[in-house]
Amino acid sequence: MRPHILWLSLLLQSVDLASGEAHAQHVLGSDARGGDVDSPKETPRAPGAELVDAAWVELRKINQPLRDRPQKQQGIFGTLLSLALKAVPTLRLTAPPTETLKSTLGGPLLRATKLLEESAATNNSDALYLLAEMNFYGNFSHPRNFKASFDYYKKLASVHGNSSAQHMVGLMYSTGIGGAVERDQARALLYYTFAANQGHTRAEMTVAHRYHAGISVPKSCENAVKYYKRVADKAIAWYRSGPPGGMGWVPESYRIADESGGVYGEGASVSSSGINAVKAHPNSDAYASIEDIIEYLDLISQKGDFKASYNLGRLYYEGQRGLPKNFKLASQYFLMVTQKFWKKNNRIAESFKPGLDKIACKAAGFLGRMHMRGEGYKQSFAQAKWWFERGMTHGDAQSQYGLGLLYLNGYGVDKNTAKAIQLLKAAAEQDYSPAEVQLGSLYLDQGYNDDPTVANHFFEMAARQGNLEAYYYIAEMNFFGVGRDKSCTAAVGYYKSVAERTEPLVSSWAEANLAYEDGDEELALLEYLTAAEQGYEKAQNNVAHLLDPGQSRLPIPDWLYPRAQKGALLEDPSLALIFWTRSSRQGNIDALVKMGDYYLYGIGTTADVDKAVQCYTGASEYHQSAQALYNLGWMHENGLGLNQDYHLAKRYYDMALETNDEAYLPVTLSLLKLRARSAWNTITNGRINSIQDEPETKKDWSLSEWIANFMQDDMLYYEEDGYDPMYDDDMPGGDGILGELDDGIFESVVIIGLVTALVFLVLYRQQRQQAARQQEEDAQRRQQQPQPGGQEQDRNQGFFPPPGDPNLGMWAAGGVGH
Ligand SMILES: *[C@@H]1O[C@H](CO)[C@@H](O)[C@H](O)[C@H]1NC(C)=O
Ligand SMILES: *[C@@H]1O[C@H](CO)[C@@H](O)[C@H](O)[C@H]1NC(C)=O
Ligand SMILES: *[C@@H]1O[C@H](CO)[C@@H](O)[C@H](O)[C@H]1NC(C)=O
Repeated sequence: MRPHILWLSLLLQSVDLASGEAHAQHVLGSDARGGDVDSPKETPRAPGAELVDAAWVELRKINQPLRDRPQKQQGIFGTLLSLALKAVPTLRLTAPPTETLKSTLGGPLLRATKLLEESAATNNSDALYLLAEMNFYGNFSHPRNFKASFDYYKKLASVHGNSSAQHMVGLMYSTGIGGAVERDQARALLYYTFAANQGHTRAEMTVAHRYHAGISVPKSCENAVKYYKRVADKAIAWYRSGPPGGMGWVPESYRIADESGGVYGEGASVSSSGINAVKAHPNSDAYASIEDIIEYLDLISQKGDFKASYNLGRLYYEGQRGLPKNFKLASQYFLMVTQKFWKKNNRIAESFKPGLDKIACKAAGFLGRMHMRGEGYKQSFAQAKWWFERGMTHGDAQSQYGLGLLYLNGYGVDKNTAKAIQLLKAAAEQDYSPAEVQLGSLYLDQGYNDDPTVANHFFEMAARQGNLEAYYYIAEMNFFGVGRDKSCTAAVGYYKSVAERTEPLVSSWAEANLAYEDGDEELALLEYLTAAEQGYEKAQNNVAHLLDPGQSRLPIPDWLYPRAQKGALLEDPSLALIFWTRSSRQGNIDALVKMGDYYLYGIGTTADVDKAVQCYTGASEYHQSAQALYNLGWMHENGLGLNQDYHLAKRYYDMALETNDEAYLPVTLSLLKLRARSAWNTITNGRINSIQDEPETKKDWSLSEWIANFMQDDMLYYEEDGYDPMYDDDMPGGDGILGELDDGIFESVVIIGLVTALVFLVLYRQQRQQAARQQEEDAQRRQQQPQPGGQEQDRNQGFFPPPGDPNLGMWAAGGVGH
C-alpha cells in the first residue's frame, strides 16, 4: 500500500505545482496581453499580419449585437410582449444568401473581409481562423457559409496543425452541420484525435466520450479514461487555482425541454412525471420564477424576517442560471442578519427571536468566506478570521472550515496543522463536504494515517453531496487502485463528472444559453452542438430538441401565432435522431421514446416499426414511461408493428394510467374508443382479441342492458372529472402526431355514433314505456289506493339517470361527443 500512497502523493503534489504554475502563467499572460494592445511586439510577425490588424480596425467599427442577459419580463403583458418580439423574424434567423448580403452589407464588414481574404491567401493563421469563425458562427453579422468555413478550418488545420481548427473540422465531419460536408464519423474521429493529442480540451472530451459511449468506435474504457483523466486533471488544477476554497462559478447546463415539462410536455414526459413530478400544487414555490421568489423574500426580509434575508444573501452569493452572482447584494443581506444579533462593541442583543443566533452565525460564516476569497471585498485574512470567529460561537460549520483553512495554510495566522485539523474535524462532523474533502486529502497526502480507507470514507461522504474535488479523489483512487480495487468503469464515470462540471473551463454552455435566450436558435444550436459532441447529455438533448420537427414550442395554436420560419440550419431531422439516440444512451428515457417516434414515422430515417417497438418497450420496461406504454397500447389497438389485440391494448393503456395519473384524460378517452372498437369487433365476430373482462360474455343480458353497462363504465370517469370536451385539444400528452395517422378514427366515430343512436332508441323506448306505465298507474290511482310502482323505476335507474335528472344532459352529451 505504502508505495502507492507515495506515488499518489507525488502525483497530487505535481498537480498542485502545475496549478501554481498555471496560475502564475495566467497572471503573466494577462499582463502580456494588456501590454500587447498599447505597444506593438518586437518579435517578427507572420506574413499578412498587418492585413489582419487593418481588418480588425474595420471590424471594431461594427456594433456587435449587445449580448446582455435580457431582463425577464413579468406578468401576462411581459409574456405577451416577449412572444410578440419573438414573432418578429430576426435578421440572423432569415439571413439572405451570401452573395446578396455581401453586396448589401458593404461598409466595414466588406472591407474587413477583403483584407482578411488577402491575408489568408498568404496562409496567415489568424486570418484563416477569423474567416472560418465568421463563416461558422456569423460574428459581426457576417452571413454563415459552412462550406467556406470548412475550407478555412481545414486549411488552417493542415498548414499550421492548429488544434482548434482540427477540432472544428472534426465537428463538421461528425455532424455534417449546414451541409458543408458529408457526415463521416471515421474522419471526425481522426481529426478529433489529432486535436486531442495536441491537448485541445474539448477534443479530448469528445474523443473520450466516443470511446466511452462507443460512438463509431468499439467501446474502450482504457481509452476513455485516458482522455477523461487528462481533462479532469486540467479541471481540478483550474479549480484549485481559484481563491482559498476553490474556483466558484454558476452552473449553466440545463435541458431546454425541461423548462416546459420535458420533451412531451408537463406530465407526459418522464422528466416531469411519476417520481420526477413537481410535488406541489400550482400556487406553491415550485412553479414560481426566481424573480417572484426574490421579490417575495425581499418583502418579508424588509419586514424583519431574518431567515428571508439570509436566504436572499445565499441566493445572490451562489447565483444560479439566469441569476448572476451579486456579492454586493449578498453581503448587504448577510449584514442585515448579523446586525440584528451583534450590536455595537460586539455586544450580543439582549432579546432576539428564536433561531436568530444560529442564522446570524451562518451569515457570519459567509461574510468570512467572502473576505477570505476577496468576493465583494478586498481579500483580507484578518477580516475573514474575525467573522469566522464570530460564526464559531454557535458552531457554524462554514466558519470552522474557513478558520481551519487559515490555520492549515498559515493565511494571516501562524501555521498550525493540529489546530486546523481539529477545526476541520468539527466541520466534518456536521457533514460539511469541503471540510471532509480537506481532511480526506490530509489523510492521503501527509501520511497522517496510513490507512487510505479513512480518506476514502471522507471522500465518499463528501461525494454524496456532489463535491467536485471528492469526485476527483475517488476517480484517482479507483484509477490507481489506492484504498480500493482498481476499477476503470468507476474511474471513468467520476472523471467524466469532474470534466463536465467545470463548465466555464471546458464548454460553451454560457454562450449557448445566452444565444438561446436572445432568441438566436441557430447560434445556440451551434454552441450546444460542441457541448453535445463533448458528451454532455443535456446538450445532446438540447440539440435534438432544437432540431426536432415534431416539437410544438408554444402552447397556443398555430393560427394565433404565425410561427417564425425555422432557419434552414434547424431542419435536419437525421441529426436530431443522432442526438436523441446519444441522449437516450446516456439514460434519458424521453429521448428513447422520441427515437421510437422517429422510427415509427420515418423521421430522419427510413421507417422501421420494429425498432420503434424496441424503443418503446425499452422505455416502458424499467423506467415506466407513460408515453411509451400508451404508444404500445395504441400500436396494439391499431395492429401497427404489433398484433392487433384489444385486450393487450387495454392493458397497456391501463399501465400508462397507473404509471402516470396525469395522463388521465387522454388515456381515458383512448380507452373509451378502444372499448367501442372492441365491442364492435365482438358484435361482428371479428377475429381480433377483444377486451376480456367485459360483461358481454353473460348471455342473459339484453342488448339494452349491455349497452347501458358499457356506457356507464366510462361515464363514471366523466362525472368524477367534470369533463369538458374543450380541454381535449390542450391536454398535454394527448396523442399529438399519433392522431394524424390514425386510420381507425373514422371507424371509431361511426361506431360510437351508432352506439349512441342505439342508446337513444332504447332510452326513448323506455321513456315511452314509463310514460305509458305512469299513465296506467295514474289511472289506477285515480281508481283505487296508490300502488307501489317504484320497484320498476329503481331498476331502470341502475342503467340510466331518470329523465329530468340534470345528469342526463351531461351523460348524453358525453356519449355523443365521444
Ligand atoms: C499556403 O499553403 C498551401 C498548402 O495548403 C501551399 O500550397 C501554399 O503554397 C501556401 N501559400 C503560401 C503563400 O505560403
Ligand atoms: C489556432 O489559430 C488561432 C489563430 O491564429 C489562434 O488564435 C489559436 O490559439 C490557435 N489554436 C491553438 C490551439 O494554437
Ligand atoms: C465568434 O462567435 C463565437 C460564438 O459566439 C465566439 O465563440 C467567438 O469567440 C467569436 N469570434 C470572434 C473573433 O469574435
